[in-house]
Amino acid sequence: MSTDPIKNKHIVLGLSGGIAAYKAAELCRALVKAGASVQVVMTEAATQFMTALTMQALSGREVFTSQWDSKAATDGSGHAIANNMAHINLTRGADAVLIAPASADFMAKLLHGRADDLLSLLCLAKPSGVPLILAPAMNREMWAHPATQRNMAQLKADGAHLLDVGNGDQACGEVGDGRMLEANDILSDLVTYFTPKVLAGKRALITAGPTYEAIDPVRGITNLSSGKMGFAIAEAMRDAGCEVTLVAGRTALDSPRGVQTIPVISANDMLKAVQANVDNADIFIATAAVADWRPANAATHKIKKDGSGKNGESAAPILSFVENTDILATVAASPRATSYPLAGSLYCVGFAAESEHLEAHARAKRERKGVPLLVGNIGPATFGMDDNALLLVDANGTKELPRAAKIALARALVLELAQRLNP
Ligand code: CTP
Repeated sequence: MSTDPIKNKHIVLGLSGGIAAYKAAELCRALVKAGASVQVVMTEAATQFMTALTMQALSGREVFTSQWDSKAATDGSGHAIANNMAHINLTRGADAVLIAPASADFMAKLLHGRADDLLSLLCLAKPSGVPLILAPAMNREMWAHPATQRNMAQLKADGAHLLDVGNGDQACGEVGDGRMLEANDILSDLVTYFTPKVLAGKRALITAGPTYEAIDPVRGITNLSSGKMGFAIAEAMRDAGCEVTLVAGRTALDSPRGVQTIPVISANDMLKAVQANVDNADIFIATAAVADWRPANAATHKIKKDGSGKNGESAAPILSFVENTDILATVAASPRATSYPLAGSLYCVGFAAESEHLEAHARAKRERKGVPLLVGNIGPATFGMDDNALLLVDANGTKELPRAAKIALARALVLELAQRLNP
């Protein structure tokens, strides 16, 4: 995940009392690693679960736990002010106040505007332009209780941004909703929160990863695509405000949160999934490494050696192939795609995985596939890796996006798309 939108942000990280406080330590570390400055504030209850010392070590700043603490409080621009008003100074210049964990009790308190400890006082006294982001954490019964749900609805109405909760094993031994999200998920939600919504309201359909064409039930033909570029584009499109459907061949990657992922195996499965979803899309991005051919007749049972002991050609099966449908070319030839840029049309983006002569092949492929934008890359220099370099080819010429992390390139590609779709 690229955490670039977090870089140089100043986050006031508030901990209220809950066993999920242990995840706040990891979250603090992740925020600092992503380039944020973090000012930790803890309620008295939070200090029962996590020491201020640990949070100080991880944030590199003194932790505040009491409104009566007279140490000088530092604002978002790094000015220490010795006026004994930490509840005012700490949020001035902050980019967000993030409460993680936000306990049921703490949320009930916020809802009423009560301010009898530093963290609740600070939430009440923060400038209205500083967002309040809450990561709830509690037992499933507490979570489901109408009082909690009512409080959360009112907090949202008052302008707070509520993160989801996780589902699963709880510290109390019960199983259900209410776990605080993992640190990485909270970080990912923060990235989404801070990313400008340049594609708000658009719906994107993306193909990613390799396809697998069966020879028999235990063997098949595939390729070296890891799916990382397509998954990164799905994340970047989501963060930019798009509703994203991702049709993914077999990969080792987790489905990005907030993205509808449809797993497929073969090129034919991918074609069907695309056809079933493309009518709802405004943008189609084909990053998948689709197998060009499949075995003409996949065997129903495992093909056995003939047992002759000969390893010569005569003992090996001879495979014949048929060409798979070109998914991108099929979609690009549809009336909604060919009517681009009319209202309600579909904008198609193709990828080209080449091994040489990138620009010439990418230009030719753009014409052949009939797409407004073709993104070229050198397959062997990127398959399976975390970085890549892209060459954008459209009717106006070419533009290079130099080698960078795939997620950084995905974010740059999103900006390029936004310029073309919302000129
Ligand atoms: N593509 C597709 N369906 C196929 C083959 C390719 O949708 N059956 C898409 C890919 O997702 C990519 C683009 O077409 O967006 C180009 O894929 P690529 O493998 O680079 O090119 P091919 O069309 O297969 O041509 P060639 O193998 O000759 O380079």
